[in-house]
Amino acid sequence: MASKKAILIILVCVIAVSIVIGVLTATFCCNGSEEEDVIVHTQSGSIKGLRVNSDVSSFYAFFRIPYAKPPVNELRFKAPSPIEPWSGVFDATIEGPACVQADALHQSEDCLILNVYTRDLPAPAAATPPAPARPVYVHLHFGGLQDYSANSGNFGPDYFMRHDVVLVMVQFRLAMLGFLNLNSQDAPGNMGLADTIEALRWVQRNIESFGGDPRQVTLGGISSGGIMTHALLMSPQAQGLIHKAIIQSGTALSYRFYHEDTEPVARFTKQVLGMPNASNDELLTQLMSLTPTELIKVSSDVKGLFPRGYNEYYPYPITRDLLGIIPENPIDMVRKNNYTQIPMIIGITSDEGIRLEVFMERLDFVNDNFYMVVPTDLYAIDDMSFEKNETAQRIKEFYFGDRDLSRKTFPQYAEVCRDSWYGHITDYVVRLQGSLNYSANVYYYVFAIDGAYNTKKFSNITSPGASHADDRGYLFKINSLANVPVNDDFSDLARDRMVAMWANFIIHG
Ligand SMILES: *[C@@H]1O[C@H](CO)[C@@H](O)[C@H](O)[C@H]1NC(C)=O
Ligand SMILES: *[C@@H]1O[C@H](CO)[C@@H](O)[C@H](O)[C@H]1NC(C)=O
Ligand SMILES: *[C@@H]1O[C@H](CO)[C@@H](O)[C@H](O)[C@H]1NC(C)=O
Ligand SMILES: *[C@@H]1O[C@H](CO)[C@@H](O)[C@H](O)[C@H]1NC(C)=O
Ligand SMILES: *[C@@H]1O[C@H](CO)[C@@H](O)[C@H](O)[C@H]1NC(C)=O
Ligand SMILES: *[C@@H]1O[C@H](CO)[C@@H](O)[C@H](O)[C@H]1NC(C)=O
Repeated sequence: MASKKAILIILVCVIAVSIVIGVLTATFCCNGSEEEDVIVHTQSGSIKGLRVNSDVSSFYAFFRIPYAKPPVNELRFKAPSPIEPWSGVFDATIEGPACVQADALHQSEDCLILNVYTRDLPAPAAATPPAPARPVYVHLHFGGLQDYSANSGNFGPDYFMRHDVVLVMVQFRLAMLGFLNLNSQDAPGNMGLADTIEALRWVQRNIESFGGDPRQVTLGGISSGGIMTHALLMSPQAQGLIHKAIIQSGTALSYRFYHEDTEPVARFTKQVLGMPNASNDELLTQLMSLTPTELIKVSSDVKGLFPRGYNEYYPYPITRDLLGIIPENPIDMVRKNNYTQIPMIIGITSDEGIRLEVFMERLDFVNDNFYMVVPTDLYAIDDMSFEKNETAQRIKEFYFGDRDLSRKTFPQYAEVCRDSWYGHITDYVVRLQGSLNYSANVYYYVFAIDGAYNTKKFSNITSPGASHADDRGYLFKINSLANVPVNDDFSDLARDRMVAMWANFIIHG
């Protein structure tokens, strides 16, 4: 039964730096013109979507479909409830709001929605034989569990819609609203994961109406989307709802996104609200009385209480919770080999750490406090008994020799970050599950493309290589990349192959 098969796919592409100003030819003639409305009947009710003809593909789009009851008023912080059926036709032709977060303009607490994109709808009964149902890709957007959304401007389906898959983009609650853990039914923690599970149940009930096959569901994401995907393999409640997984640049074992102890965050939250001696119940009553904008302010003040420098701490991360959404520390579950084992693509980008270029001013601080770069999980993994500073010293010597951190040694610092935030734990997961005879195929990759669609340019990162989440530009159509000049002959090829490989996995495993 237990067959281990780890295939190493290394996508190595010529690193071509092409900043020559290209001719802005009219490659993008149309921005998705609406041709016709279309109505689909689901178990929840009827939904009106639209036909989109983009420059690369044609498909039907259904935006902002509600999959759970709005988590507002007395439902704030609670695990989600299924959506109640509606009468009439729901208008899914316009994009919905993002979940509550710091910067988005269009946002709402009422944000448990998903977008569905499909090339074809099932033929009406008694018409020509229906096309076979298509495998489904459910993608979880990134944003550190605290921002971003499913908006098609950031995650355009156009390239996936050249393949026989149905794409579902899910939104889930973020930051404090999605992950506050007060160890009670009223704020159990992992609400954002529970939202995703509710969305996956919605997919089981309804995706056939969109031409999708509920028995072939792949869940995936980049960065925190990958972390959530991996975490849901640990959730007994997600079992049977996911059949394949795509985990890009993040795992549930990531020490920055999993807290074993939830007490400090609750304490910091009370401190910020000026009620240090309050009980968790009193804290919750206070939080229930605040507006979403006030909650965001509290979240960001709590974040400010964590040390800054090397690690960006996420105060409301994944935790163990009393509802058993995540029943145990994921690292223990992987070690005990007791979780959902399904075919998986997992990997990182070649230069994840160049993202730190935007924090150049912190180099001196990190140099003087190098112990900060030691992944806290390194101890758990290797049972190292020596001092953290001694470990830090060894790490520093390994990457820098006798040099200090400076702009000159930034490439080495970027390697430290790649390895300590992403590389070592991903490698640990792959090797450990291999040695424990993980019972499905695992495809392990490094994404090393540096071309026209790397999103690092949005942060003004100039270091060569594939930065964290640069792979998004090779899977999704991104509005802000629409007019990027392409001055090489591999960027389009790389994108086409990347999407084709992902689609082949979603279809064939
Ligand atoms: C398409 O372009 C028109 C005019 O430039 C604009 O009003 C519309 O919002 C765009 N539609 C989309 C879906 O981007
Ligand atoms: C909280 O309790 C401590 C110790 O009992 C006390 O010194 C402090 O004044 C209390 N703070 C507030 C804001 O009530
Ligand atoms: C495996 O995990 C389930 C919950 O996910 C738990 O009920 C069971 O006891 C675990 N089994 C072992 C052997 O740890
Ligand atoms: C490591 O060194 C730093 C600064 O040199 C110091 O602040 C910190 O307390 C030390 N940590 C440990 C665990 O010894
Ligand atoms: C994994 O499978 C191999 C070959 O069947 C076997 O020798 C080994 O004992 C297995 N390891 C575990 C941890 O089950
Ligand atoms: C990148 O640089 C441009 C031009 O200097 C500037 O306008 C923009 O704000 C910068 N973006 C970021 C994210 O720093």
